[in-house]
Amino acid sequence: SRPFRIAVLPGDGIGKEVMPEGLKVLKTAADKFGLNLEYRHFEWASCDYYAQTGQMMPDDWKSHLQDCDAIYFGAVGWPAIVPDHTSLYGSLLKFRREFDQYINLRPVRLFDGVPCPLANRKAGDIDFFVVRENTEGEYSAVGGKMFEGTDREIVLQESIFTRIGCDRVLRFAFEMASRRARKHLTIATKSNGIAISMPYWDERAAEIGKEYPGVTTDKQHIDILSARFVLTPDRFDVVVASNLFGDILSDLGPACTGTIGLAPSANLNPDRKFPSLFEPVHGSAPDIAGKNIANPIAMIWSGALMLDYLGRGLTGAAQKPYLDAHDAIVKAIEDVLVQGPHTPDLGGKASTSQIGDALSKVLAK
Ligand code: NAD
Ligand code: IPM
Ligand code: MN
Repeated sequence: SRPFRIAVLPGDGIGKEVMPEGLKVLKTAADKFGLNLEYRHFEWASCDYYAQTGQMMPDDWKSHLQDCDAIYFGAVGWPAIVPDHTSLYGSLLKFRREFDQYINLRPVRLFDGVPCPLANRKAGDIDFFVVRENTEGEYSAVGGKMFEGTDREIVLQESIFTRIGCDRVLRFAFEMASRRARKHLTIATKSNGIAISMPYWDERAAEIGKEYPGVTTDKQHIDILSARFVLTPDRFDVVVASNLFGDILSDLGPACTGTIGLAPSANLNPDRKFPSLFEPVHGSAPDIAGKNIANPIAMIWSGALMLDYLGRGLTGAAQKPYLDAHDAIVKAIEDVLVQGPHTPDLGGKASTSQIGDALSKVLAK
């Protein structure tokens, strides 16, 4: 059978430093498990490309990506040369929308060997998923400015909640919860203050919930939900949230597990009509870029999620070597977090490339 085609887009800043480590580990996994992966490398979707050309991507970007099976993505953003909304709406957010990646799946997990900033928490206590709506909601380009430059200036930005958009992410989250041991879904809301869209979101959640009588739910306003991520993270199993709330929760959750440098994400088009995109939760981290100290594990774990996704029936039946490779990479991450070395975000002195090497070595064994 033909190889899986993977588009590689490192982007900016530490995206360019963690990507080689992700590819290093994927190569080790491919050798060990006999995976058939083919890469297409692109330098665009970066602020460097913008500086040269005045746009984030070539006009024909879609034709390069849409016949790939997956996109492996570093991080985009270099606000010193390109405003963030220009760089992100010109790349990552465009991919999520144009490729209808309506699920952003973000695991939150406390590992052994990682100091937890919350008191008295050990590995196993924090182990849940944030399911983030990824194509609409508070992230919209609908709105505008009036009376610009005057003291009557008005800026309006709409949120968009469609029935299809709400139902499909809610159904995905219920489905996921129904397959887990605890079968519990937390629904993030803010229907007390955001008085049109959030009551609608709640209403759709109640409606979709009828299809899943085996799943228990609780609905929490985003403010107290954030507090409970810190106070009682052990109570969560699957958490579903709108685009913005999910964005915030998916930095907060990993922060509660020691560092955002571990957190991966899968931007999924579950229908598999378009390529899905796998990337760390974190950004380009200009404050540490160029120093070879970024933690590459979020990138590496995202690569494992990509293999899991590729292995699950893209070409018919599930392909076990890909699922095994996912499990082996996660196991290698577990081992390296226990035995070290660690990057500075975890209190260590190791470099980005040393972590990639250590992980590859453990994986190859
Ligand atoms: P950021 O995630 O880049 O960095 C936040 C903090 O976390 C920084 O102190 C950084 O050093 C640290 N950090 C992040 N990743 C780390 C890692 N792997 N190892 C160790 N420490 C790490 O968020 P920001 O500073 O708000 O954004 C910087 C730029 O990245 C902006 O342009 C922003 O728009 C962009 N961004 C892009 C993405 C993406 O491409 N998916 C995500 C978030 C932010
Ligand atoms: C993320 C990022 C993006 C988002 C930014 C860079 C637009 O923070 O992937 O979490 O808000 O979705
Ligand atoms: Mn974010």
